[in-house]
Amino acid sequence: MGKLKNKSSNYKVIDDWKDFDKSKLMSLSADYYSEKGIDAFSRVKSSNIIPSETSCSYAHAESLALLLKNQMDMNPNKGVFKVLELGVGSGLFSYNFLRAAEKLGIIDKVNYCVSDFNENILVKIKDLEFLDQFENNVNFQVIDLLNIDSSYSLINTDYKLDDLDLVVGNYLMDVFPALPVKFSNRNIGELDKLQVKVSQPKNLLDEDLYSNDKLFKNLKIEERYVTYDSKDFSDLEANYIDLFQNYVRKHDSRVPRIYPYGYGSLKALENVVSRLSNEGFFYVMDVPYRENANIKPYDTYGNTVANHVNFDLMICLLEQNNNSFRYTRNDYYGRLLVARNDKLLFDFSEKYSFIDEFMANNPINLYSDLIRAISMIKTKEGVSVLGTLIDSLEKISPNETTTHLIRADYHTMKKDYSNALTFLNLAKDADKAGMYKVNTEISKIKALMK
Ligand SMILES: C[S@@+](CC[C@H](N)C(=O)[O-])C[C@H]1O[C@@H](n2cnc3c(N)ncnc32)[C@H](O)[C@@H]1O
Repeated sequence: MGKLKNKSSNYKVIDDWKDFDKSKLMSLSADYYSEKGIDAFSRVKSSNIIPSETSCSYAHAESLALLLKNQMDMNPNKGVFKVLELGVGSGLFSYNFLRAAEKLGIIDKVNYCVSDFNENILVKIKDLEFLDQFENNVNFQVIDLLNIDSSYSLINTDYKLDDLDLVVGNYLMDVFPALPVKFSNRNIGELDKLQVKVSQPKNLLDEDLYSNDKLFKNLKIEERYVTYDSKDFSDLEANYIDLFQNYVRKHDSRVPRIYPYGYGSLKALENVVSRLSNEGFFYVMDVPYRENANIKPYDTYGNTVANHVNFDLMICLLEQNNNSFRYTRNDYYGRLLVARNDKLLFDFSEKYSFIDEFMANNPINLYSDLIRAISMIKTKEGVSVLGTLIDSLEKISPNETTTHLIRADYHTMKKDYSNALTFLNLAKDADKAGMYKVNTEISKIKALMK
């Protein structure tokens, strides 16, 4: 008993039973993105990073550039195509997309807008100069997707947020407020919402939020479900509540599961779709909610919360608004492609067969399989298998920091330090945003070579 008391007194409560979506976890998460900026995506080995490797890979970016090329082929008389990337984070996807557009010979027709709600991120990406070679094709725009009218341009350009041909949101929907809800087991047919009580170890300082990436892992997060009552609704929450309730009530109330009410992602979706051109697409890639009562509906990465995205609910909204869409998912990510025009994807499906190709056979699937398989091989006996896997990775995601680092690890395993060093130097060169701290790895190899 004494021990327990001691343990709990090592914590101080920083948020006392708040609705999950309005809790300190969400505001700390937003602060972390604002304050930490581009460094939130830094890949020091063993750190608890935001999983942007797959989303930002060249393989993924090239598949979207190819989609755009197909759109261009369908509309040969249209001059420039407006591409908008939301919540760019490290800017690596932008860089890879523009690289791919150049390779596909379409760069002259691309007007690419790099955007985030955090101005510091954009300033940093601009200062790092890795997009300078595409200077004529790039805009920088501060866009808070939940407050889109407050958008402004970083450099003095007259960029209008309309008539957008391709909008990309990688791991963006998961940052918006969402409330986990489930059927009550006390009052049949009624709904309960998740509340959390958050405590932090007393020895952690407030500023550790930015200096210590593991603060969230050290928080004590207690959960409870209480009656979901309309009197506590925020405006945004109230806005989509009928849609949400209709969606929930389609399900069997006896099956224990959680229904994430991602009202933030619904608003974000509407904000983008209404600004698409007639031929335009909004592409969303994110961590999907899995209908399993035992899986938490959110994760923490760095000091951020990633809400598992309720794609099914987003689809209810698209159906209600008569937008057309394609959706596919696996355990790791969901991918949704939306067009404003309901004719686009269905009436002309033969003409638009590239869309099915883009959704079904995307290289991102192979990319993420390869990354997972490569990380599992640790033994010397596996080296030849590893070599084959890395060959495949190099084909679909060439000249990328991750690919070079993996090749360097492979040579290190073979004790071929000279080749390892060659690939580390290539990795350093490819690490445009300085995310990987390759110098530390170089020093380690040099020490082994002595
Ligand atoms: C999980 S990160 C994804 C970064 C990048 N797209 C990727 O795949 O690596 C989410 C990004 O969204 C930005 N963000 C957070 N809230 C936002 C908002 N309300 N509007 C626009 N961007 C936002 C963050 O600054 C961060 O860069």
